[in-house]
Amino acid sequence: MFDLSDIKKPVKKEMAEFEAYFGRTMKSEIPLLKIILNYIFRRKGKQMRPLLVFLSARLNGIIGEPTFVAATFIELLHTASLVHDDVVDDASERRGALSINALWNSKIAVLVGDYMLSQGLLISIEKNRFDMLEIISEAVKSMSKGELLQLQKARKLNIKEEDYLKIIKSKTAALLSACTACGAKSVTDDPEVIQLMKDFGENIGIAFQIRDDLLDYQGNGLTGKAHGNDIKERKITLPLIHALEQSQNSIKKHILGIVSKKKKTRQEITEVINFVYENRGIDYTELKMNQYRDKALAILDSYPDSEVKDSLKAFVHYTTARDK
Ligand code: IPE
Ligand code: IPE
Ligand code: MG
Ligand code: MG
Repeated sequence: MFDLSDIKKPVKKEMAEFEAYFGRTMKSEIPLLKIILNYIFRRKGKQMRPLLVFLSARLNGIIGEPTFVAATFIELLHTASLVHDDVVDDASERRGALSINALWNSKIAVLVGDYMLSQGLLISIEKNRFDMLEIISEAVKSMSKGELLQLQKARKLNIKEEDYLKIIKSKTAALLSACTACGAKSVTDDPEVIQLMKDFGENIGIAFQIRDDLLDYQGNGLTGKAHGNDIKERKITLPLIHALEQSQNSIKKHILGIVSKKKKTRQEITEVINFVYENRGIDYTELKMNQYRDKALAILDSYPDSEVKDSLKAFVHYTTARDK
């Protein structure tokens, strides 16, 4: 399998420049904010979204300042959404370290997340990129809607595969699709190209979240976040949805009984995980994920062969094979 450094090759220079661009936005005069922004900046994620912005731009034209604006805005928004997400999910680990809510507290995490989001909004305004602002603001709205829908479903424990797909399209795929759309938009105005790239990103995004949800079950110790947190937080994702659909009512009731508990023992969580494996929840979910991976690859096939196309192909494969 390719690793991210191979995939970055066609935009290596731009990714290095991006680092400085992004770093300049993670600054503040306020001492507490300064410390926290620095803490976040030093614990980088995989930076898959900016990479996707640059590769999408390269595929369709010549990378310029608008591409940097989009990449920076999107990584800021993504980082902000993780800081907020850890509050919502009551998660204490992120990127192999304590989350902001765990190290400081939830109030601070909410405010820091807002600060990063507004930094992103400001860059796009300063640089007069209202087109980016529009695409990304739509994604922000969609992400909040997705998270709320997820909370609502978690409370009722009645989630179906269809609802799950709707949730992950909103909370995750909307942003990946903003990456590909903004990347394209930064180099062309052709609406057909932008729509095609949007669909490409959406399929990657769905596969991306399915992989994330699988990793929560598989717990390989490499993700830098605690595994089993989804069950702990009553988040019913595709592996469990499918396993529940396969089983008899009495067993279903028993498993949902565990999931709905506010406090669960490690043993109970393990019981749910084993139930998912035994009822082919993991196999089925992998199959579904690969369908979206293949849809993304099919879209890419409408482009002529090139180095950047190969990188994007590898990006798609990495999305569904990654172990962190
Ligand atoms: C995590 O995203 C949040 C999801 C949408 C599943 P990433 O896995 O891209 O997180 P980082 O940025 O690499 O930490
Ligand atoms: C994705 O869902 C969260 C966002 C879209 C911000 P998760 O809650 O599964 O993400 P992780 O696993 O905490 O990174
Ligand atoms: Mg989470
Ligand atoms: Mg997750």
